[in-house]
Amino acid sequence: MSAKKPKILVTREVFDETLDYLRQHCEVTDNQGDQPYAPEALGRALADCDGLMCCLTDRVDAALLAAAPNLKVAANIAVGYNNVDVPACTARGVMVTNTPGVLDDSTADLAWALMLGTARRITEVERRVRSGEWTGWRLKQWLGIDVHHATLGIVGMGRIGQAIARRAAGFDMKVIYHNRKPIAPELERRCNAAYVSFDELLAQSDFIVLQVPYSPATHHLIAAAQLAKMKPSAILINSTRGGVVDDAALVAALKNGTLRGAGLDVYENEPKLHPEFLKLDNVALAPHIGSSTEATRQAMAMLAAQNLVAALRGEAPPNLVNREMRPEPRP
Ligand code: GLV
Repeated sequence: MSAKKPKILVTREVFDETLDYLRQHCEVTDNQGDQPYAPEALGRALADCDGLMCCLTDRVDAALLAAAPNLKVAANIAVGYNNVDVPACTARGVMVTNTPGVLDDSTADLAWALMLGTARRITEVERRVRSGEWTGWRLKQWLGIDVHHATLGIVGMGRIGQAIARRAAGFDMKVIYHNRKPIAPELERRCNAAYVSFDELLAQSDFIVLQVPYSPATHHLIAAAQLAKMKPSAILINSTRGGVVDDAALVAALKNGTLRGAGLDVYENEPKLHPEFLKLDNVALAPHIGSSTEATRQAMAMLAAQNLVAALRGEAPPNLVNREMRPEPRP
Protein backbone atom coordinates (compact mmCIF):
# COMPACT_ATOMS: atom_id res chain seq x y z
CA MET A 1 0.00 0.00 0.00
CA SER A 2 1.19 3.53 -0.65
CA ALA A 3 1.83 5.92 2.26
CA LYS A 4 -1.66 7.32 1.80
CA LYS A 5 -4.08 4.87 3.33
CA PRO A 6 -6.80 3.55 1.04
CA LYS A 7 -10.36 4.57 1.84
CA ILE A 8 -12.87 1.95 2.80
CA LEU A 9 -16.50 1.81 3.84
CA VAL A 10 -17.83 -0.70 6.38
CA THR A 11 -21.57 -0.82 5.76
CA ARG A 12 -22.79 -2.20 9.10
CA GLU A 13 -21.72 -2.39 12.72
CA VAL A 14 -18.68 -4.62 13.32
CA PHE A 15 -16.55 -5.52 16.35
CA ASP A 16 -14.11 -3.00 17.81
CA GLU A 17 -11.25 -5.43 17.09
CA THR A 18 -12.27 -5.52 13.43
CA LEU A 19 -12.23 -1.73 13.21
CA ASP A 20 -8.91 -1.49 15.07
CA TYR A 21 -7.34 -3.84 12.54
CA LEU A 22 -8.87 -2.05 9.56
CA ARG A 23 -7.74 1.37 10.86
CA GLN A 24 -4.13 0.20 10.96
CA HIS A 25 -4.29 -0.17 7.19
CA CYS A 26 -7.10 1.99 5.88
CA GLU A 27 -8.99 5.23 6.30
CA VAL A 28 -12.26 3.81 7.54
CA THR A 29 -15.80 5.12 7.31
CA ASP A 30 -17.72 2.91 9.72
CA ASN A 31 -21.39 2.55 10.51
CA GLN A 32 -21.44 1.60 14.18
CA GLY A 33 -24.96 3.07 14.32
CA ASP A 34 -25.87 0.11 12.08
CA GLN A 35 -28.47 1.95 10.01
CA PRO A 36 -28.56 0.01 6.71
CA TYR A 37 -27.70 2.13 3.67
CA ALA A 38 -30.37 2.58 1.00
CA PRO A 39 -28.89 1.70 -2.42
CA GLU A 40 -28.37 5.30 -3.62
CA ALA A 41 -26.89 6.36 -0.29
CA LEU A 42 -24.51 3.42 -0.44
CA GLY A 43 -23.40 4.55 -3.91
CA ARG A 44 -22.75 8.07 -2.61
CA ALA A 45 -20.85 6.77 0.42
CA LEU A 46 -18.69 4.60 -1.84
CA ALA A 47 -17.95 7.29 -4.44
CA ASP A 48 -14.28 7.71 -3.50
CA CYS A 49 -13.70 4.40 -1.73
CA ASP A 50 -11.13 1.76 -2.66
CA GLY A 51 -12.66 -0.96 -0.54
CA LEU A 52 -16.04 -2.10 0.70
CA MET A 53 -16.79 -4.37 3.64
CA CYS A 54 -20.36 -5.49 3.19
CA CYS A 55 -22.97 -7.95 4.42
CA LEU A 56 -25.79 -9.98 2.96
CA THR A 57 -28.10 -7.00 3.56
CA ASP A 58 -26.18 -4.94 0.96
CA ARG A 59 -26.80 -5.40 -2.75
CA VAL A 60 -23.56 -5.05 -4.71
CA ASP A 61 -24.60 -4.79 -8.34
CA ALA A 62 -23.68 -2.99 -11.57
CA ALA A 63 -25.49 0.20 -10.51
CA LEU A 64 -23.53 0.38 -7.25
CA LEU A 65 -20.26 -0.38 -8.99
CA ALA A 66 -20.90 2.42 -11.49
CA ALA A 67 -21.11 4.81 -8.54
CA ALA A 68 -17.79 3.57 -7.12
CA PRO A 69 -15.15 3.98 -9.83
CA ASN A 70 -12.16 3.45 -7.47
CA LEU A 71 -13.48 0.26 -5.90
CA LYS A 72 -11.03 -2.63 -5.92
CA VAL A 73 -12.57 -5.09 -3.48
CA ALA A 74 -15.93 -6.05 -1.97
CA ALA A 75 -15.33 -8.15 1.14
CA ASN A 76 -18.56 -9.85 2.16
CA ILE A 77 -18.95 -10.89 5.81
CA ALA A 78 -20.64 -14.19 4.94
CA VAL A 79 -19.85 -17.42 3.21
CA GLY A 80 -22.82 -16.93 0.85
CA TYR A 81 -22.45 -14.10 -1.65
CA ASN A 82 -25.74 -14.11 -3.53
CA ASN A 83 -26.06 -10.41 -2.58
CA VAL A 84 -23.07 -9.69 -4.83
CA ASP A 85 -23.21 -9.70 -8.64
CA VAL A 86 -19.85 -11.43 -9.09
CA PRO A 87 -19.69 -11.20 -12.92
CA ALA A 88 -20.42 -7.46 -12.71
CA CYS A 89 -17.60 -7.08 -10.16
CA THR A 90 -15.20 -9.05 -12.35
CA ALA A 91 -16.15 -6.94 -15.36
CA ARG A 92 -15.18 -3.81 -13.41
CA GLY A 93 -12.00 -5.32 -11.97
CA VAL A 94 -13.37 -5.63 -8.43
CA MET A 95 -12.26 -8.58 -6.28
CA VAL A 96 -15.00 -10.32 -4.30
CA THR A 97 -14.22 -12.23 -1.11
CA ASN A 98 -16.27 -14.28 1.37
CA THR A 99 -15.69 -15.96 4.75
CA PRO A 100 -15.75 -19.75 4.33
CA GLY A 101 -14.58 -22.24 6.95
CA VAL A 102 -14.88 -20.21 10.14
CA LEU A 103 -18.65 -20.62 10.40
CA ASP A 104 -19.09 -24.29 9.49
CA ASP A 105 -19.49 -25.69 12.99
CA SER A 106 -21.72 -22.91 14.34
CA THR A 107 -24.01 -23.14 11.32
CA ALA A 108 -24.14 -26.93 11.63
CA ASP A 109 -25.04 -26.56 15.32
CA LEU A 110 -27.93 -24.25 14.41
CA ALA A 111 -29.26 -26.72 11.83
CA TRP A 112 -29.19 -29.33 14.58
CA ALA A 113 -30.92 -26.98 17.02
CA LEU A 114 -33.73 -26.58 14.49
CA MET A 115 -33.87 -30.32 13.91
CA LEU A 116 -34.10 -31.20 17.59
CA GLY A 117 -36.36 -28.24 18.27
CA THR A 118 -38.89 -29.18 15.61
CA ALA A 119 -38.76 -32.91 16.37
CA ARG A 120 -39.54 -32.25 20.04
CA ARG A 121 -41.75 -29.20 19.38
CA ILE A 122 -39.63 -27.01 21.66
CA THR A 123 -40.73 -23.59 20.38
CA GLU A 124 -44.38 -24.64 20.38
CA VAL A 125 -44.41 -26.12 23.89
CA GLU A 126 -42.41 -23.20 25.25
CA ARG A 127 -45.22 -20.91 24.04
CA ARG A 128 -47.77 -23.20 25.69
CA VAL A 129 -45.88 -23.23 29.01
CA ARG A 130 -45.60 -19.44 29.01
CA SER A 131 -49.30 -19.01 28.26
CA GLY A 132 -50.24 -21.16 31.26
CA GLU A 133 -51.68 -23.93 29.10
CA TRP A 134 -49.60 -26.61 30.85
CA THR A 135 -51.61 -27.95 33.76
CA GLY A 136 -49.64 -31.10 34.47
CA TRP A 137 -48.11 -34.28 33.06
CA ARG A 138 -50.07 -36.43 30.60
CA LEU A 139 -48.98 -39.57 28.79
CA LYS A 140 -49.88 -38.30 25.34
CA GLN A 141 -48.78 -34.75 25.87
CA TRP A 142 -47.38 -32.87 22.89
CA LEU A 143 -45.73 -35.97 21.46
CA GLY A 144 -42.73 -35.40 19.26
CA ILE A 145 -40.73 -37.73 17.05
CA ASP A 146 -37.33 -39.32 17.57
CA VAL A 147 -34.24 -37.91 15.98
CA HIS A 148 -32.12 -40.90 16.99
CA HIS A 149 -32.12 -43.78 14.52
CA ALA A 150 -34.00 -41.67 11.95
CA THR A 151 -32.80 -41.01 8.38
CA LEU A 152 -31.16 -37.66 7.81
CA GLY A 153 -31.02 -36.37 4.23
CA ILE A 154 -28.62 -33.51 3.51
CA VAL A 155 -28.98 -31.53 0.29
CA GLY A 156 -25.66 -29.83 -0.41
CA MET A 157 -22.64 -31.62 1.03
CA GLY A 158 -20.06 -28.85 1.27
CA ARG A 159 -18.20 -28.11 4.49
CA ILE A 160 -21.36 -27.20 6.46
CA GLY A 161 -23.32 -30.17 5.13
CA GLN A 162 -20.47 -32.45 6.18
CA ALA A 163 -20.34 -30.89 9.66
CA ILE A 164 -24.09 -31.55 10.01
CA ALA A 165 -23.57 -35.16 8.89
CA ARG A 166 -20.72 -35.80 11.33
CA ARG A 167 -22.92 -34.75 14.25
CA ALA A 168 -25.45 -37.45 13.29
CA ALA A 169 -23.13 -40.24 14.49
CA GLY A 170 -24.01 -39.47 18.09
CA PHE A 171 -27.68 -39.99 17.28
CA ASP A 172 -27.19 -43.30 15.45
CA MET A 173 -28.81 -41.84 12.36
CA LYS A 174 -28.66 -43.13 8.83
CA VAL A 175 -27.25 -40.29 6.71
CA ILE A 176 -27.91 -39.88 3.01
CA TYR A 177 -26.99 -36.88 0.90
CA HIS A 178 -27.39 -35.32 -2.50
CA ASN A 179 -24.88 -32.99 -4.07
CA ARG A 180 -23.90 -31.89 -7.58
CA LYS A 181 -21.44 -34.77 -7.44
CA PRO A 182 -20.51 -37.28 -4.73
CA ILE A 183 -17.87 -36.13 -2.25
CA ALA A 184 -14.54 -37.98 -1.98
CA PRO A 185 -14.83 -41.52 -0.55
CA GLU A 186 -12.76 -40.67 2.55
CA LEU A 187 -15.10 -37.74 3.30
CA GLU A 188 -18.12 -40.01 2.82
CA ARG A 189 -16.57 -42.39 5.35
CA ARG A 190 -15.91 -39.59 7.85
CA CYS A 191 -19.52 -38.46 7.49
CA ASN A 192 -20.85 -42.02 7.37
CA ALA A 193 -23.04 -40.78 4.52
CA ALA A 194 -24.27 -42.39 1.31
CA TYR A 195 -24.89 -40.53 -1.95
CA VAL A 196 -28.44 -40.87 -3.35
CA SER A 197 -30.44 -39.16 -6.09
CA PHE A 198 -32.43 -36.06 -5.15
CA ASP A 199 -35.72 -37.94 -5.50
CA GLU A 200 -34.48 -40.83 -3.34
CA LEU A 201 -33.43 -38.34 -0.68
CA LEU A 202 -36.85 -36.66 -0.73
CA ALA A 203 -38.65 -40.01 -0.46
CA GLN A 204 -36.48 -41.65 2.22
CA SER A 205 -35.55 -38.90 4.68
CA ASP A 206 -37.19 -38.29 8.03
CA PHE A 207 -35.26 -35.01 8.32
CA ILE A 208 -34.20 -33.05 5.25
CA VAL A 209 -31.60 -30.33 5.77
CA LEU A 210 -30.92 -27.85 2.97
CA GLN A 211 -27.37 -26.58 2.74
CA VAL A 212 -26.97 -25.55 -0.92
CA PRO A 213 -25.95 -21.99 -1.79
CA TYR A 214 -28.68 -19.81 -3.28
CA SER A 215 -28.39 -19.13 -7.01
CA PRO A 216 -30.75 -19.14 -9.99
CA ALA A 217 -30.07 -22.91 -10.18
CA THR A 218 -31.30 -23.50 -6.61
CA HIS A 219 -34.19 -21.03 -6.65
CA HIS A 220 -37.26 -22.94 -5.36
CA LEU A 221 -35.31 -26.20 -5.33
CA ILE A 222 -37.99 -27.22 -2.83
CA ALA A 223 -41.41 -26.32 -4.24
CA ALA A 224 -44.80 -28.07 -4.28
CA ALA A 225 -43.60 -30.98 -6.46
CA GLN A 226 -40.64 -31.75 -4.18
CA LEU A 227 -42.69 -31.34 -0.99
CA ALA A 228 -45.16 -33.87 -2.40
CA LYS A 229 -42.35 -36.42 -2.70
CA MET A 230 -41.42 -36.16 1.01
CA LYS A 231 -42.86 -38.41 3.70
CA PRO A 232 -45.84 -36.74 5.42
CA SER A 233 -43.97 -37.49 8.67
CA ALA A 234 -40.84 -35.64 7.49
CA ILE A 235 -39.36 -32.42 8.84
CA LEU A 236 -37.67 -29.87 6.58
CA ILE A 237 -34.85 -27.64 7.83
CA ASN A 238 -33.73 -24.59 5.86
CA SER A 239 -30.58 -23.15 7.38
CA THR A 240 -29.02 -21.91 4.15
CA ARG A 241 -30.81 -19.14 2.20
CA GLY A 242 -34.34 -17.95 1.61
CA GLY A 243 -35.47 -18.62 -1.94
CA VAL A 244 -34.15 -22.19 -1.94
CA VAL A 245 -37.63 -23.04 -0.61
CA ASP A 246 -40.89 -21.81 -2.10
CA ASP A 247 -42.29 -20.51 1.18
CA ALA A 248 -45.91 -20.38 -0.05
CA ALA A 249 -45.72 -24.05 -1.08
CA LEU A 250 -44.17 -24.90 2.30
CA VAL A 251 -46.96 -23.10 4.14
CA ALA A 252 -49.52 -25.12 2.15
CA ALA A 253 -47.78 -28.43 2.96
CA LEU A 254 -47.53 -27.56 6.68
CA LYS A 255 -51.18 -26.51 6.78
CA ASN A 256 -52.62 -29.51 4.97
CA GLY A 257 -50.48 -32.01 6.87
CA THR A 258 -48.51 -33.36 3.92
CA LEU A 259 -45.37 -32.37 5.87
CA ARG A 260 -45.04 -32.79 9.63
CA GLY A 261 -42.93 -29.75 10.36
CA ALA A 262 -40.23 -27.30 9.39
CA GLY A 263 -37.39 -25.49 11.10
CA LEU A 264 -36.42 -22.28 9.35
CA ASP A 265 -33.59 -19.81 9.83
CA VAL A 266 -34.01 -18.09 6.45
CA TYR A 267 -36.92 -16.88 4.35
CA GLU A 268 -37.89 -15.45 1.01
CA ASN A 269 -37.98 -11.64 1.36
CA GLU A 270 -36.58 -11.71 4.90
CA PRO A 271 -37.01 -10.10 7.34
CA LYS A 272 -40.62 -10.18 6.08
CA LEU A 273 -42.03 -13.62 6.67
CA HIS A 274 -44.88 -15.31 4.88
CA PRO A 275 -47.64 -14.29 7.35
CA GLU A 276 -48.99 -17.83 7.64
CA PHE A 277 -45.74 -19.06 9.22
CA LEU A 278 -46.60 -16.97 12.27
CA LYS A 279 -49.89 -18.81 12.73
CA LEU A 280 -48.51 -22.34 12.45
CA ASP A 281 -47.40 -24.42 15.44
CA ASN A 282 -45.49 -26.95 13.36
CA VAL A 283 -42.78 -24.56 12.25
CA ALA A 284 -39.87 -23.26 14.35
CA LEU A 285 -38.73 -19.80 13.27
CA ALA A 286 -35.25 -18.38 13.81
CA PRO A 287 -34.06 -14.96 12.56
CA HIS A 288 -31.12 -15.88 10.26
CA ILE A 289 -28.73 -16.63 13.11
CA GLY A 290 -26.97 -19.65 11.59
CA SER A 291 -23.47 -18.34 12.22
CA SER A 292 -24.38 -16.01 15.07
CA THR A 293 -22.17 -16.96 17.97
CA GLU A 294 -19.76 -14.47 19.54
CA ALA A 295 -16.66 -16.34 18.43
CA THR A 296 -17.88 -17.12 14.92
CA ARG A 297 -19.19 -13.67 14.03
CA GLN A 298 -15.91 -12.17 15.29
CA ALA A 299 -13.94 -14.64 13.20
CA MET A 300 -16.06 -13.86 10.13
CA ALA A 301 -15.62 -10.10 10.50
CA MET A 302 -11.86 -10.45 11.00
CA LEU A 303 -11.51 -12.78 8.03
CA ALA A 304 -13.44 -10.32 5.85
CA ALA A 305 -11.14 -7.53 7.08
CA GLN A 306 -8.04 -9.59 6.28
CA ASN A 307 -9.38 -10.35 2.81
CA LEU A 308 -10.02 -6.66 2.23
CA VAL A 309 -6.60 -5.51 3.42
CA ALA A 310 -4.80 -8.17 1.37
CA ALA A 311 -6.68 -7.13 -1.77
CA LEU A 312 -5.84 -3.46 -1.23
CA ARG A 313 -2.18 -4.39 -0.79
CA GLY A 314 -2.28 -6.00 -4.21
CA GLU A 315 -1.98 -9.46 -2.67
CA ALA A 316 -4.24 -12.44 -3.33
CA PRO A 317 -6.90 -12.40 -0.58
CA PRO A 318 -7.25 -15.77 1.19
CA ASN A 319 -10.89 -16.15 0.12
CA LEU A 320 -11.12 -14.72 -3.36
CA VAL A 321 -14.40 -15.68 -5.03
CA ASN A 322 -13.68 -14.44 -8.57
CA ARG A 323 -10.39 -16.30 -8.91
CA GLU A 324 -9.73 -14.79 -12.35
CA MET A 325 -9.09 -11.54 -10.44
CA ARG A 326 -6.15 -13.10 -8.56
CA PRO A 327 -3.24 -10.66 -8.74
CA GLU A 328 0.03 -11.91 -10.26
CA PRO A 329 2.55 -12.74 -7.53
CA ARG A 330 5.12 -9.97 -7.20
CA PRO A 331 8.54 -10.83 -8.74
C1 GLV B 1 -24.64 -16.42 6.42
O1 GLV B 1 -25.78 -16.55 6.16
C2 GLV B 1 -23.52 -16.67 5.53
O2 GLV B 1 -23.72 -16.93 4.33
O3 GLV B 1 -22.39 -16.62 6.02
